[in-house]
Amino acid sequence: MKVLAIAFSEELKSLLSSALKGDAIHWIATKDQFFSEVDNYNDGMFSAVVCELSEGPEFALEVGQVMRSLCPQTPSFACALDKKEFAAKTIRKNGYSDVFLFPIDKGSFLEAIASAMTPEALAKRSYKRIMSPDLQAKSKLSFTTYVHLPLNNKYLVFANKDEEFTDKKAEKLTKFQVGSLYVDQKDSNRFYEYVAEQMKSADNSLSETERGEKLKSSIRSMFNELFDQNSEESFDHGKELMESCRGLVSTYIVGPGQKTDFHTRLLRTIGGVGMDYSHSADVSTLAALFGIALGSKKVEELAIAGFFHDVALASFPVEYGYEINPQWDEAIKKTFLDHPQQSLNIVKTKKMILPPEAEKMIFQHHEKFDGKGFPKGQAGDRILLEAQILSLADQFHYLTVARPGQARMSPLEALEVIGKNGSLGPALLNQARSLFNKK
Ligand SMILES: [Fe+2]
Ligand SMILES: [Fe+2]
Repeated sequence: MKVLAIAFSEELKSLLSSALKGDAIHWIATKDQFFSEVDNYNDGMFSAVVCELSEGPEFALEVGQVMRSLCPQTPSFACALDKKEFAAKTIRKNGYSDVFLFPIDKGSFLEAIASAMTPEALAKRSYKRIMSPDLQAKSKLSFTTYVHLPLNNKYLVFANKDEEFTDKKAEKLTKFQVGSLYVDQKDSNRFYEYVAEQMKSADNSLSETERGEKLKSSIRSMFNELFDQNSEESFDHGKELMESCRGLVSTYIVGPGQKTDFHTRLLRTIGGVGMDYSHSADVSTLAALFGIALGSKKVEELAIAGFFHDVALASFPVEYGYEINPQWDEAIKKTFLDHPQQSLNIVKTKKMILPPEAEKMIFQHHEKFDGKGFPKGQAGDRILLEAQILSLADQFHYLTVARPGQARMSPLEALEVIGKNGSLGPALLNQARSLFNKK
């Protein structure tokens, strides 16, 4: 079955073409073409329908309504390349199963497409990240697991399907500090069945993989709300948003369900592949972990600041990177230099009242101890200690995330780099180093 792709711009066309085989896409270029064919459509004809908002919202909303009545069982997605078109609630009300804002939703969009299609339709195998602690030694796995090598972007078999997951394999993961593995996307259900079986005997009701996924999707809903052009801007609504944000922190980040020690959680949190919502989720987790380990009293604030620190970069093309590049033109540079303040502005527009310390952490997360950071170039103790901890968590994530063509950096190597760039004060740096040396 094909995906029905409506009104795609060149940019989205090349993205979808890279994910799916050519014969798995039915392109509709114009309104006229859509209306001339639509009478033949029914459920079972397409794996999914995707409409870009390139022809303006009216047409996209009409497509949503028409498809909902003709093919109610077929998943339908809307894609917005422009923030101004992103009226998520209205779009969903008009029949769409999900709405994606680019570039931040690129990864989520590709996942949604991969799970709607049969594996044969995919141009390349699609992998799902799982957390290694979810695999129990001596159990039998009904799916093959892989390790990801970012240097040549390869996935190597780690343990074969139907083999026992031996103690030796489990030890190997610990020894080489591998916090996450991958399974073929088509084996997702097998993986969930396996963890459900394993969890039966545990007191915890969710696997680590599912926890991570839930946190990521909750952050995505929260950001959706922040970016929604038509969403409510009242103090009550802002309060509600803030409460759900605190709920996420206590459920997934610093709550009683989180018993594992610093190093185990650290390894699990780093080494992901995406820069989208996982950046937000992981920086928040890392900031809280470092906060606890370094004796900060502002752990919840650190986690909250981690969620929102880069909200304003949602429309910043990922391929530009996250460090100031001398080749950027003035406009791009300005967007980047302004993002700490802009992130706060986005949150404020929705009338969310952040704890004042969290606000300061977000504003100062790119300041450096040596005074060479931005936006203000503040130095030394003028930078809140927790803003430095957030900066540590943020840089840690950038440095350890898997990047195609680059070897994965270990936590110690990352700390080494951070130690040399002037961003942290000597006292904090020593404390952070001692966290790793103790081991
Ligand atoms: Fe940032
Ligand atoms: Fe960041």
